[in-house]
Amino acid sequence: MARVFHVPAGSSRSGARRAAEVPPASAVRPASGPSTGTERRGGIVAGYLAPHPPHLVYAENPPQNEPRSTGGWEVLRWGYEELRRRLRAHRPDVLVVHAPHWITMVGHHVNCVPNPRGVSVEPIFPHLFRYHYDFDTDVELAEAIVEEGENAGLVTSALREEGVRVDYATIGALHLANPAWDLPVVSLSANNNPYYYSDASLAEMETLGAATRRAIERTGRRAVLLGSNSLSHLHWDTEPDLPEDMSVERPFNHQQYAGDMELLQTIREGPTSRLKEAVPKHIEATSSETKAGSLTWLLAAMGWPAIAGDVLAYGTVIATGNAVIEWVP
Ligand SMILES: [Fe+2]
Repeated sequence: MARVFHVPAGSSRSGARRAAEVPPASAVRPASGPSTGTERRGGIVAGYLAPHPPHLVYAENPPQNEPRSTGGWEVLRWGYEELRRRLRAHRPDVLVVHAPHWITMVGHHVNCVPNPRGVSVEPIFPHLFRYHYDFDTDVELAEAIVEEGENAGLVTSALREEGVRVDYATIGALHLANPAWDLPVVSLSANNNPYYYSDASLAEMETLGAATRRAIERTGRRAVLLGSNSLSHLHWDTEPDLPEDMSVERPFNHQQYAGDMELLQTIREGPTSRLKEAVPKHIEATSSETKAGSLTWLLAAMGWPAIAGDVLAYGTVIATGNAVIEWVP
């Protein structure tokens, strides 16, 4: 791991301010571990497409994020509020997240650091996202995913180096799904090969998804999965003086919007097996961020259930398409 990703977290001034504003993680951190009791069966209890535009966190003004906003992107944020209600109702032991900006060039990595903490910064929008995080990893499950991935023939690696900065997509999705941070987490990297080889398929995500499922079942966890991908991914290269000025927020063009609607219609109709063809077609049409594999991993982990997805919200962020979607297998 390049040392550029291992830097002191925040300035001393911002650190002092955070210490005053952010509740200590120990105040909200529960004991982790497998569920017990007959009414709380283990396994994957729900999966969510949970995109991570930093703008959504910025718009919410949580105490962990340094920049302040006047709001914006409300419909997407209302979708996340519904996701939070539903996630709570599933009573998970752990959140397992696959996000596209922890980029690994060789294989699939799993964060096995027990208590990641620091400041996550969005490199293109540092004026919107400088987020102070402090959460617990479910290390037993993380190590089980590494092992199951290896057993399935994948190149896998356990990240154990303390202080490596957690990427903004992982932090953004986790905050938007569970701003209380009171559930343990397992974070998976995104192998970047599909971005280098135009003919690289998402087949490895099938294998990684199945390995994730086996690890969850083996450890007896009740898990909620978060696949953190936006949909259509062309975006503006300038922003208004007020970043949350919604009068300039719209799809990049009709073709991008129509591509997203076609995919969402397929998702709403089900079954998920139709997405094996629809997702690559959508990537080709819209430069979709699902190329990073998070959505395919999510559906493969759930075994491509014969159900429809529930689209909780759709909206654009700097012209990219974003949908919040629930599948309950
Ligand atoms: Fe992204």
